[in-house]
Amino acid sequence: EQGAEFIVVANRLPVDLERLPDGSQRWKHSPGGLVSALEPFLRSRSGAWVGWPGVADVAVDPFEEEGLLLHPVALTNDEVRDYYEGFSNATLWPLYHDVVAPPVFDRSWWDVYVRVNRRFADACAKVAAEGATVWVQDYQLQLVPAMLREQRPDLRIGFFLHIPFPPVELFMQLPWRTEIVRGLLGADLVGFHRPGGAQNFLWLARRLVGLEPSRGAVGVRTRPGVVQVGDRTVRVGAFPISIDSAGLDALARRKDVQQRARQIRADLGHPEKILLGVDRLDYTKGIDVRLNALHELLAENRVDPTKVAMVQLATPSRERVEHYKQMRGDIEQIVGRINGEFGRVGNPVVHYLHQSVDRKELAAFMSAADVMVVTPVRDGMNLVCKEYVACRYDLGGALVLSEFAGAASELTSAFLVNPHDLDGVKNALHAALTVDPAEGRRRMRALRRQVLTHDVDRWARSFLEALGSQPVL
Ligand code: G6P
Repeated sequence: EQGAEFIVVANRLPVDLERLPDGSQRWKHSPGGLVSALEPFLRSRSGAWVGWPGVADVAVDPFEEEGLLLHPVALTNDEVRDYYEGFSNATLWPLYHDVVAPPVFDRSWWDVYVRVNRRFADACAKVAAEGATVWVQDYQLQLVPAMLREQRPDLRIGFFLHIPFPPVELFMQLPWRTEIVRGLLGADLVGFHRPGGAQNFLWLARRLVGLEPSRGAVGVRTRPGVVQVGDRTVRVGAFPISIDSAGLDALARRKDVQQRARQIRADLGHPEKILLGVDRLDYTKGIDVRLNALHELLAENRVDPTKVAMVQLATPSRERVEHYKQMRGDIEQIVGRINGEFGRVGNPVVHYLHQSVDRKELAAFMSAADVMVVTPVRDGMNLVCKEYVACRYDLGGALVLSEFAGAASELTSAFLVNPHDLDGVKNALHAALTVDPAEGRRRMRALRRQVLTHDVDRWARSFLEALGSQPVL
């Protein structure tokens, strides 16, 4: 059997196995930014993808889907609990997002994280051809680079982190900080969204691995962009991720999508202005921030509830993790309060859907929205704001964007806000709702210039070029 030349390893496959109530199963598109960024890139090349099919206790044989070879990695129910919901999403996720929720440090979760990372590394080692390029993705798999290198020194290994890499003071809280840094140093190239993340990692590599020889480190030192690990050079850099901009632009231009956008506006009762939020239901996304801002604007008569409608699409996510349960309750309470105070029969102010919508429907919502509101308290990049910009070929619409999203450093013509400053968010919402059309077009034109020229293909190419891999280009 011939191995694959180019392999992506990610916690999730690009498709999720869904169990239907009648006992049957079907595949559906996986949630989140990682899959939506990487999938179009990888599909246009014939690569392999190693990942979990999204449900516990199922063993699925490798299969091909639209030119992509998928290699499912099975996880037991306990492993989903301890590795995925536990260590990945109740320890690393909050820690890396500036501890906006307190991270839980549980030693048994760590053991399972190690075991599952090994399983992914083993699966990948089996699939990879001699000298192949392997691209490991995200915080769930930070030990895979070193584990893979141990077995397969012939491989070229890249790692990319899709979420923020935290300030060193926060990372240092992690009881397994040295193991994580060592795991990542197994790669030839470690990529982050922002230069600050790369800088933090370089500092930690020196501090944790270089200065703690008792843990077995020899000769590790750093210089800007590079860590020398013995005779191996590990490169470290920033690679801001993006979207399939041209594809989304083309989708938004379609007649059926524009027709659906008009239908959405009609369904909402032809409001003068439509506000839109689109997020996984996650406490880092600041959904409460924008709802609270809207609530106050309504209460102060700065926004007329008969003229404005807000749509909040919230994709269900990590529903068994405690913080997610809590915040779902909080959000739904605020939605209820706003509609209770300012809605009319048949005309709520906030239309809240706890559902995932497909790409076409998303493009229609984005085409219909006068103001897109993206207010995370911390976000590695945030792709939703770039998707909105890609959809607005008409130069209509306005973007309100948190300074704490990685995208803010590229999308400087948005209405930028500090999500911790509620008055600032209110003013930005108000400004976006009332922006002069010429000024709005000027801003959108500048945003589109950035998003259309910096797409996911460019991101992937620049990463793989830095990794020195040729086969997929
Ligand atoms: C973020 C992470 C991804 C993750 C996605 C969806 O984008 O960076 O690694 O796949 O969220 O979250 P989930 O837990 O459903 O995979």
